Amino acid sequence: MTDEELFQKLGKIEIRQGKEREIKSYVLRNNVLSDKDREIVRENMPKFGFFYEDRFIDYKELFGSDKPVIIEIGFGMGDTTQQVAIRRPEYNYIGIEVFLQGFVKLLKHLGEDNLENVRIIRFNAVDVITHMIADGSVQGFHIFFPDPWPKKKHHKRRLMQLPFIHLLAQKLVKGGYIYMVTDWEEYAAETLETAALEPLLNNPFYGFAPPVAWRPVTKFEQKGMEKEYAISEIWLERG
Ligand SMILES: C[S@@+](CC[C@H](N)C(=O)[O-])C[C@H]1O[C@@H](n2cnc3c(N)ncnc32)[C@H](O)[C@@H]1O
Repeated sequence: MTDEELFQKLGKIEIRQGKEREIKSYVLRNNVLSDKDREIVRENMPKFGFFYEDRFIDYKELFGSDKPVIIEIGFGMGDTTQQVAIRRPEYNYIGIEVFLQGFVKLLKHLGEDNLENVRIIRFNAVDVITHMIADGSVQGFHIFFPDPWPKKKHHKRRLMQLPFIHLLAQKLVKGGYIYMVTDWEEYAAETLETAALEPLLNNPFYGFAPPVAWRPVTKFEQKGMEKEYAISEIWLERG
């Protein structure tokens, strides 16, 4: 693949465009690669990145090891992804993000730290999980601070609605988990209620979960805490 083909491929982020798309859960910001970004992509994409393909991922082929797989949806700038992968090296991690600058930033850090247990893809998570992830194959999903879409008319853009929760549940191994953290209380309450309707999932805490020791507090979260937003943690398991 030439460099131009590589950059062009990175620019495509969903199967369907515009109105056809199922959930429009994100808006794209700056979509331009600087020369420095291009250098990072050129260097690190072959090892740490991968592209959308219409086939299930062979995890052993992707990672070169067969540790249980955890998928993070919307990793933002990737700080948490990096920290969690270091703190819990017994898992392999797939990070999915559409935000180009965040994607390139994590690509850079993965290269610097040579984090063997992380691979990332710039694509719509709904498409990746639907078409590239086999049922019953994932140990856990991490969804940290998903866009809250606070206005009522935008609630339909929220990711954590029943069809998506059902999709995630189907992809989990038995005993696998979905871990969501948000500083938007109303979204948290709604997700808890919705998840209770999914027969494949149990809530071992019967309400919100306590925080886990291995999840670092991000800058984004720190800002929310300064505004005294409560942090809600949701932990669901496939029975
Ligand atoms: C509010 S940010 C939180 C980022 C990060 N998890 C954190 O805690 O700082 C939500 C992120 O989810 C990403 N996102 C939203 N919908 C997505 C989708 N369908 N596929 C991939 N990424 C998505 C957005 O681009 C954004 O970077």
